[in-house]
Amino acid sequence: TKRKLWGGRFTGSTDPIMHAFNESLSYDKRMWAQDIRGSQAYARALIGCQILTEEECDQIVKGLALVGEEWKNGTFQVQPDDEDIHTANERRLKELIGTVAGKLHTGRSRNDQVATDMRLWLMDEAQALAALLKEFIQVIVSRARAEIDALMPGYTHLQRAQPIRWSHLLLSHASYLVADYQRLLDLQPRISVLPLGSGPLAGNPFAGLDRDAIAKELGFETVGTNSMHGVSDRDFIAETLMWASLTMVHISKLAEDFIIYSSAEFGFVQLSDAYSTGSSIMPQKKNPDSLELLRGKSGRIFGDMAGFMMTLKGIPSTYNKDLQEDKEPLFDAVDTIRRSLQVATGVLSTMTIFPEKMRAALTPDMLATDLADYLVRKGIPFRETHHISGSAVRMSEERKCQLSDLTLEDLKTLSPAFEEDVVKVWSMEESVERRNATGGTSRRAVEEQCDRLEQLIAST
Ligand code: ARG
Repeated sequence: TKRKLWGGRFTGSTDPIMHAFNESLSYDKRMWAQDIRGSQAYARALIGCQILTEEECDQIVKGLALVGEEWKNGTFQVQPDDEDIHTANERRLKELIGTVAGKLHTGRSRNDQVATDMRLWLMDEAQALAALLKEFIQVIVSRARAEIDALMPGYTHLQRAQPIRWSHLLLSHASYLVADYQRLLDLQPRISVLPLGSGPLAGNPFAGLDRDAIAKELGFETVGTNSMHGVSDRDFIAETLMWASLTMVHISKLAEDFIIYSSAEFGFVQLSDAYSTGSSIMPQKKNPDSLELLRGKSGRIFGDMAGFMMTLKGIPSTYNKDLQEDKEPLFDAVDTIRRSLQVATGVLSTMTIFPEKMRAALTPDMLATDLADYLVRKGIPFRETHHISGSAVRMSEERKCQLSDLTLEDLKTLSPAFEEDVVKVWSMEESVERRNATGGTSRRAVEEQCDRLEQLIAST
């Protein structure tokens, strides 16, 4: 007859609905490899406390490798009583190597085991996410370099504001993402702390357990220094979810820009077919579903984060089963942001831009600030020149002409400081090129941004 691993004191069997409610194997089985690695390292450490002989350890390590093979080949048979990845692996180990398997869990608890598995899993995933984020940033920077000639309106309040380089807009998004990249790397030392050796809560009672050696073998940077904290600390998950939420906010904002710019009203960009869909009724439609989903997924990831924060608040010290609820939000957020980064990279690397459309949206009134700055260079205080330029805008509106259509005589009625050279104000290129201070939209300043962003992601 089968019995649960913890079944010693129980006489009644688990209610089937309770079993389904309690089990986590259906989703924590994705940590099978981490669970095997952690157990192998623990078995080796048990030699040091004379719990296992070299030979017994060898049997266990090899047996665990066989269990791992079964997961890998898809031949692992889940049994109805398997509760989570830890109990499933140990149950199978015993079937393969016999009673010696029963020594593996000495001094260990699923509490320090699960925390170890989660951290190992996330250490790998965070690296993969960092690589994807880096690639996304690189795609944006490469586009910015290639399309540096394109000028477009820059907007505030979604109203035309000042001319900018298209590349400058791209790099503004990359700047958010570089900070996200750095934040992700900053999380690593707090993820990479070993809980194994904490026992259920009070620590490991077997003398000679070398936790530093376990950490080294598993690739942890440090060893946890308080066992009660070790079994219950899920801040590394909360932080990862906060990181994912903020990163998705940035991806969502980027998506929103390109959704707007791909509308016929703007027509600045067009998504490739690979990242668009059609309408089931309107044959002309090409919808930016990829970008809309990116915008939508940001809400979902924030939900993972907010839900998990509510799970954490108010639970008493050490392990409580509430903590099993850490897995689904983390897995969902990591899966979602991984796909989001891949799709966003695909969209950005295949999108077409229409520089003539961008150019056509540049109107001379967007140079009103430059007109005021022209008078500043003639020695008039800006607060006055702002007013004079504003009067020029009003004059052009009254005459239903462009700001640049006002003659020198018209302008001179507003200020005697206007001279022949005022015509130079009406060049979009010169407006953009004047913004040459670090961080500006001039060619040199934009190229400098490209270099800087590339350095930041290359150095880490
Ligand atoms: N499946 C459990 C989890 O994910 C493993 C730890 C169970 N520990 C316990 N004391 N019941 O949290």
